[in-house]
Amino acid sequence: MKICTTVKEMHAAAHAARREGKRIGFVPTMGALHEGHLSLVRAAKAQSDTVVVSIFVNPVQFGPNEDLNRYPRPFERDRQLLENEGVDFLFAPSAEEMYPAGAITYVTVEGLSEKLCGKSRPRHFRGVTTVVAKLFHIIEPDLACFGQKDAAQAAIIRRMVRDLHLPVEIVVCPIVREPDGLAMSSRNAYLDPQQRRSALVLSRSLGRVVEVFGKGERNSDRLIEVGKQVFEDEPSVRLDYFEIVDPETLEPVVTVRGAALVAVAAFAGTTRLIDNTVLQP
Ligand code: PAF
Repeated sequence: MKICTTVKEMHAAAHAARREGKRIGFVPTMGALHEGHLSLVRAAKAQSDTVVVSIFVNPVQFGPNEDLNRYPRPFERDRQLLENEGVDFLFAPSAEEMYPAGAITYVTVEGLSEKLCGKSRPRHFRGVTTVVAKLFHIIEPDLACFGQKDAAQAAIIRRMVRDLHLPVEIVVCPIVREPDGLAMSSRNAYLDPQQRRSALVLSRSLGRVVEVFGKGERNSDRLIEVGKQVFEDEPSVRLDYFEIVDPETLEPVVTVRGAALVAVAAFAGTTRLIDNTVLQP
């Protein structure tokens, strides 16, 4: 696996692969890799000839009081995991490389970026779309894999790709869960044993909504109420939002008639966790 740390080097390597007729699969990450990330790498590998993974803790998508400085950066472990998966290129630029001094250009998917996590993390999605647009421009992948766990992020990136006519196929891969149901996340590493147990309330609440939906309930307010009630048994976890929205527009759904995204975010201690499921009538 070749490691590229500059934009020039990465661009040249991707260009050379494309000239050889290779189909490029790309997985953008912030490192601290877990099985969820590795499932994306495997999906990219299955559908392309050359796999590029980026590790970049993108400062622009963190708010002023968020965890940028303490975000885990186990680079050597990540490198080894990617090597084991047969990744061809690892792009690991510095913040200065990605954001040259004085950079003032951003990519924003207006409207969608203020929904779900965008409400409590005001510039988060702007940071995500800006860095993903840069990465797409540097690597020019044929396809890029994202996790369904960040369902709003996936919808926003799909919209950016559509609106900007970017020639990249977006592949969204299923959520990977721990055996007890907790959605895998690099931030799970912050949880102490008690918080780790309490954090199961997220997947439990979604399971309860699916159960009630299965019995025929289609009214979103009532389904949301059922999900929120599960949080009442776990007062140590503070709910941020519990919403049922259209998976593409992220607009609230009143009655579930087509596919609907049930999305939840909550704090276990200071750690913000997200999870979701899709209801399919
Ligand atoms: O999902 C993530 O890890 C990040 O938001 C991404 C897509 C790598 C952009 O920094």
